[in-house]
Amino acid sequence: MDIQSVGIVGAGQMGNGIAHVFALAGYDVLITDIGQDALDNAVALIDRNMERQVSRGKITAEVKAAALGRIRTTLKLADLGQTDLVIEAATERETVKQAIFEDLLPHLKPTTILTSNTSSISITRLASRTDRPEKFMGFHFMNPVPVMQLVELIRGIATDAETYQTLLGVVERLGKTAASAEDFPAFIVNRILMPMINEAVYTLYEGVGSVKSIDEALKLGANHPMGPLELADFIGLDTCLAIMNVLHDGLADTKYRPCPLLTKYVEAGWLGRKAGRGFYDYR
Ligand code: CAA
Repeated sequence: MDIQSVGIVGAGQMGNGIAHVFALAGYDVLITDIGQDALDNAVALIDRNMERQVSRGKITAEVKAAALGRIRTTLKLADLGQTDLVIEAATERETVKQAIFEDLLPHLKPTTILTSNTSSISITRLASRTDRPEKFMGFHFMNPVPVMQLVELIRGIATDAETYQTLLGVVERLGKTAASAEDFPAFIVNRILMPMINEAVYTLYEGVGSVKSIDEALKLGANHPMGPLELADFIGLDTCLAIMNVLHDGLADTKYRPCPLLTKYVEAGWLGRKAGRGFYDYR
């Protein structure tokens, strides 16, 4: 199927990054969120991030202007109904995602492919609540989306071959690389990454190392671009906790038990960079 237009639900760090790369690849992009502020901030951030690419010679000013011209915003979820592909990139909570799909379904044209950027929730279960489980897939981008090469593609049990092939083509047009994962809790990237981050929080909790020594150990000792605690702040501690809970519940193994310190930080509202405070202070 030929995809020309893309609707993105959620203008947060993932949603705006996804809008950025689709607009650069020549797709018409329509972003929706519940507040005008969120939409305005997203467009301003895309502008700044594209400007960074212009200043580093990655794209020209003309390419940037054309890409920005392809991005529109709306407060009405129903407006996404006529797009060819919808990517849900809202909060990592199943009830929120299900409510979005429920509200969207009556407005969708029959051919639209529905996807979720969920980093851990069952694609089969999300798909089963829609009218098109065969046209539903997990479409998982990595943060920061304009920089990270990988997109995880997750087929639900009912996803058909045409939908999968269409999304493979989209990933290719974005200039990214697809990794296909089966639909089990947290798929591939977060099945491996999150327990490492959780273990880093345990390492802090048990006093084995300080925030600085844990992060430096992994950066300099294992060549990670960011230390695990810095990365947790970057991803958002609420998202990390949500993913650990999906692993813990879905695989019923205590090795996935979220560290109590991670839970406490989330309860305090210390959600990482976006909140101004997490393992580091950004204020
Ligand atoms: N938009 C456009 N370009 C961006 C950007 C953005 N949002 N953020 C960074 N860049 C560009 C910079 O302009 C720079 O470009 P050049 O190479 O041309 O100079 C390049 O990326 C590197 O950025 P910086 O020089 O600012 O900083 P850095 O070298 O420290 O790299 C980083 C920053 C790319 C974020 C790097 O630290 C990194 O790769 N960190 C790990 C990120 C990671 O692991 N992400 C996956 C998280 S897991 C996930 O997303 C899945 C999930 O479900 C939770």
